[in-house]
Amino acid sequence: MTVQRTLSIIKPDAVKKNSVGQIISRFETAGLKVVAVKKVYLTRETAGEFYAEHKERPFFGELVDFMTSGACYPMVLEGDNAILKNRELMGATNPNKAEAGTIRHDFALPCTDLSANAVHGSDSEESAAREIAFFFASADLL
Ligand code: CMP
Repeated sequence: MTVQRTLSIIKPDAVKKNSVGQIISRFETAGLKVVAVKKVYLTRETAGEFYAEHKERPFFGELVDFMTSGACYPMVLEGDNAILKNRELMGATNPNKAEAGTIRHDFALPCTDLSANAVHGSDSEESAAREIAFFFASADLL
């Protein structure tokens, strides 16, 4: 058993649809614990810094526009193989290709803008460590 922590962000589209509680429930039902959570309004600067690895991608500007369009709920999830488990719960990046029962299928359809895919989740131990530290101080994670 490998207990891990990962960062999830409930994105502005899911917040506007009033789906925050239902999405957190998916995590908890799957055995993940919410160690820390808060509501944030990203600025163009903080959104750009968070997604810096995508800076050269053609969708970067639209992604920053979208992530600054409303409130987000970043949270730290903890549990056995939390990084992979969270990614399985989220489903494919493109909600139109996500399997039924995944968060992106169930909360992000219909979807015409790939930035509006309900949730973000860390994709590796390295990105989880960086992304958790981006939003939370160690004292928030006790
Ligand atoms: P996320 O997990 O937040 O990480 C980067 C985000 O870029 C991704 O989810 C999508 O919401 C967004 N994005 C927008 N366009 C694309 C695209 N063409 N390919 C991949 N990701 C995209």
